[in-house]
Amino acid sequence: MGKIKAMIKRAARYIIKGVPNVTMNVNVAEIKYGGILEGKKVLITGGTRGLGFAIAKRCLEEKAKVTITGRTMEALEKAKAQLGNPKELYLIAHDIRDYDRDEEVIQTARRYMGGVDILLNNAGVSVHDINYATCTQEMWDRQMDTNLKGVYFLTQAFMKYYNEVGKKAGKIIMMVSERGLYGDDVPYGLAKRALISYTEGLAVKLIGKGVRVNAIAPGVTATDMTGWDPNGDLYRPYCRGKRVLLPQEIAEVAIFLMSDASNSISGQVIACNETNHLK
Ligand SMILES: NC(=O)c1ccc[n+]([C@@H]2O[C@H](COP(=O)([O-])OP(=O)(O)OC[C@H]3O[C@@H](n4cnc5c(N)ncnc54)[C@H](OP(=O)(O)O)[C@@H]3O)[C@@H](O)[C@H]2O)c1
Repeated sequence: MGKIKAMIKRAARYIIKGVPNVTMNVNVAEIKYGGILEGKKVLITGGTRGLGFAIAKRCLEEKAKVTITGRTMEALEKAKAQLGNPKELYLIAHDIRDYDRDEEVIQTARRYMGGVDILLNNAGVSVHDINYATCTQEMWDRQMDTNLKGVYFLTQAFMKYYNEVGKKAGKIIMMVSERGLYGDDVPYGLAKRALISYTEGLAVKLIGKGVRVNAIAPGVTATDMTGWDPNGDLYRPYCRGKRVLLPQEIAEVAIFLMSDASNSISGQVIACNETNHLK
């Protein structure tokens, strides 16, 4: 009965307001792990260790094809060996600051995997223990060039390829940081804040093209960047959650955002940070 009433209401609205009756179909994916990324082709920058490595590992477990980048083939091959030399893992040596090679990187990943559906902008560097007074221009450039300019132009190259081949669905994920959620006085936080703005702005521009753009904002996570040992004591008394996070925890969020289970989400920043940002 309710259904009929709703149909009559809709029909009346169309007649009165002249709204066209468009039919759209949506595929809703239930989360069923073990193959949730089957058929997806994922490009992860900075996949040799830390978060990028943990995410690449989970992508492979979820049956995606994966290409990882890093500055040296040596580090890439080491990472691949640690993962048991999987057939579906491809390697591209690329310094994210070598912007002139961005298109070549996308095309190589495309050739290896037969396409690129998902770009995870993960590569990043942090210069610790500085502030507005001690930051040098070299420190500024290193962080901004890697964490912001590198992401911006690789994303541009990805979208160029996406438009050229007429793709209908894609995902871009930015690895930002909780530092981008607060005011900050160092380039690391400023770059991450800018990336959050870019996530929101790009999401609006690209939703009509079928591209979802989201960001993950981790708090302190046990990787080389922070010096915390993922296999050691994670207790961190001076933060609200009292512990650091594990790369595997961030990887689960990334898998969700890459999967069709999150197709209704765009322009969002998922904070994984022990609620330090909440007032
Ligand atoms: N760990 C945290 O607490 C935390 C918190 C919030 C956000 N994040 C963000 O998460 C991302 C990954 O951090 P992580 O903790 O996993 O760091 P990590 O362990 O230091 O790993 C950094 C990764 O980025 C790559 N990389 C660095 N500079 C690069 C460049 N110029 N060109 C290409 N690749 C480069 C590294 O590869 P090679 O060295 O082999 O080139 C490595 O694979 C970063 O964007 C970081 O800002 C981390």
